[in-house]
Amino acid sequence: MTQDELKQQAALRALDYVIDGEIVGVGTGSTANYFIDGLATMKDRIAGAVASSEASARRLSSHGIRLLDMNEVESLPVYVDGADEIDASLSMIKGGGGAQTREKIVAAVARTFVCICDASKKVERLGRFPLPVEVIPMARAQVSRELIRLGGRPIPREGFVTDNGNLILDVHGLDISDPTGLEITIDGIVGVVTSGLFAKRGADILLLATPEGVVTYGRT
Ligand code: A5P
Repeated sequence: MTQDELKQQAALRALDYVIDGEIVGVGTGSTANYFIDGLATMKDRIAGAVASSEASARRLSSHGIRLLDMNEVESLPVYVDGADEIDASLSMIKGGGGAQTREKIVAAVARTFVCICDASKKVERLGRFPLPVEVIPMARAQVSRELIRLGGRPIPREGFVTDNGNLILDVHGLDISDPTGLEITIDGIVGVVTSGLFAKRGADILLLATPEGVVTYGRT
């Protein structure tokens, strides 16, 4: 089975968590795209969707799924999204697509975060995947110096601008033995918009697609 087939299996399993008549929070990336395509098959049963990126909003719209603005939504039963890495406590690195700020906002409102991944994303310890950090452009150099002080090697993502008009620094080599502590530290650097560490608010459920089937994990 290919990695794409595994992503699709995890994504389609997440449709079981969609609640009839409710709004669905929708993530970003290739796995989330499979979820969006699956959601299209049941679009008449949901009240609409909140998207975590312009790309996902376009894909949802192309399927005729009603889009809601995050500011119109008070509560969200479920948010479905992928991850770049996820550990046993369901803390994650996200932002490979540069969408982590809006993803973190939608995740913060959601009651249940369902993470959908192929088996390659599950790791013992976060950090092999460089940590994406969204930065206000004028703060790039200062934030880079702070990230170097934390032991990282920040590399500006070439030619990339986020949906919010900012830059991404991909930070290599960080020690992420304390994901929550590091998330708080990095998100607290002046000029950082959002890091791709999702530990304070990790996933509640992981649907991990393996060649033997989709395995469900709950947050410990
Ligand atoms: C988008 O910014 C990310 O947070 C994605 O959720 C993450 O990169 C996973 O992407 P894939 O599903 O494409 O692997």
